[in-house]
Amino acid sequence: MRIQGDLVGGPRRRRLRHDGAGAAFVPCREIGHAGEMTDVGSAQDLAERLRSTGYLADDGLATVGFLALRMGRPLLLEGEPGTGKTAMAEALAESLELPLIRLQCYEGIDASQALYDWDFPRQVLHLRAMEAVRGVDELDVDAVEKSLFDERFLLARPILRALRESPVVLLVDEVDRADDEFEAFLLEVLSTNQVSIPELGTVAADTPPVVVLTSNRTREVHDALKRRCLYHWIEHPGLAREVAIVRARLPEVSERLAEQVTGAVHRMRDGVELLKPPGVAETLDWATALHALGRDSLDVESAATTLGAVLKYREDADRVRASLDAMLTSA
Ligand SMILES: Nc1ncnc2c1ncn2[C@@H]1O[C@H](COP(=O)(O)OP(=O)(O)OP(=O)(O)O)[C@@H](O)[C@H]1O
Ligand SMILES: [Mg+2]
Repeated sequence: MRIQGDLVGGPRRRRLRHDGAGAAFVPCREIGHAGEMTDVGSAQDLAERLRSTGYLADDGLATVGFLALRMGRPLLLEGEPGTGKTAMAEALAESLELPLIRLQCYEGIDASQALYDWDFPRQVLHLRAMEAVRGVDELDVDAVEKSLFDERFLLARPILRALRESPVVLLVDEVDRADDEFEAFLLEVLSTNQVSIPELGTVAADTPPVVVLTSNRTREVHDALKRRCLYHWIEHPGLAREVAIVRARLPEVSERLAEQVTGAVHRMRDGVELLKPPGVAETLDWATALHALGRDSLDVESAATTLGAVLKYREDADRVRASLDAMLTSA
């Protein structure tokens, strides 16, 4: 981790921290946030660091990413599928040399899956062991209960881990899949950087993590959460940048094939009405598939046989197949 001696300025908050079981809350040192601790000096600097991991960010994304670090605010990335939202968080963690902790959201996720659970089988074993050693009648109920809700039986889930282990990058992926209640919970955690565990007390992050949230906009994220974040919509990349992405991610693929595949994908996105326009992920898959078949250029026949790497709906494949000739000859 790169840590600068002279930390970048920013609002500092006085925080409370739990000082062990049963103890009162105590004020802890004034803290900054994980972004503040990095020595990223500018948006360009961040773009270069991301590039060194193989992630090519445009100016808009690099700027909002830099500001999120500087201001200690979560970064909310929205965009079409396969436009590099998740990869941005991964690249950010790698380039800052911070661990990445990922929370994958899904329908029905609740706070216990994001925060912590108790290891029930191990608690039962512990109870049995105590009964075997002392006999049921000898056990002090209060002491037994206390020992069951001990730290060692706590299963820390991603958000609790992030608060405890920070400085880290916390990726809250596909937040639009979770429901309103979970979003409200997230908002609270992101606002306070602490959580309360009834049996143990409050856990507060010494250093609030760098947080990246992603959404495919299957539903609108609430204004309250958006207000807390810096927001960026990731567009499909322009032709030249997408060729550069293919070259960076797949150096084994020839330049010619990279250009032809990317050009064909762009014509699909722009020229044909598709149910699911291909993202960068599909461009990479298509180039990988053609390379695996030993091709170093794109012709109609190999394009037709590998369309499944780039289009995932039968209707889309039919539509593109009908105009494949024209699509590739205009390459
Ligand atoms: N700017 C970029 N630079 C380098 N690689 C990229 C870039 N954008 C996308 N990719 C690559 O494209 C693929 C898809 O990216 P990713 O999974 O991050 O998309 P996503 O937006 O999270 O998609 P989804 O909404 O489906 O989760 C990954 O292999 C990623 O590395
Ligand atoms: Mg993703």
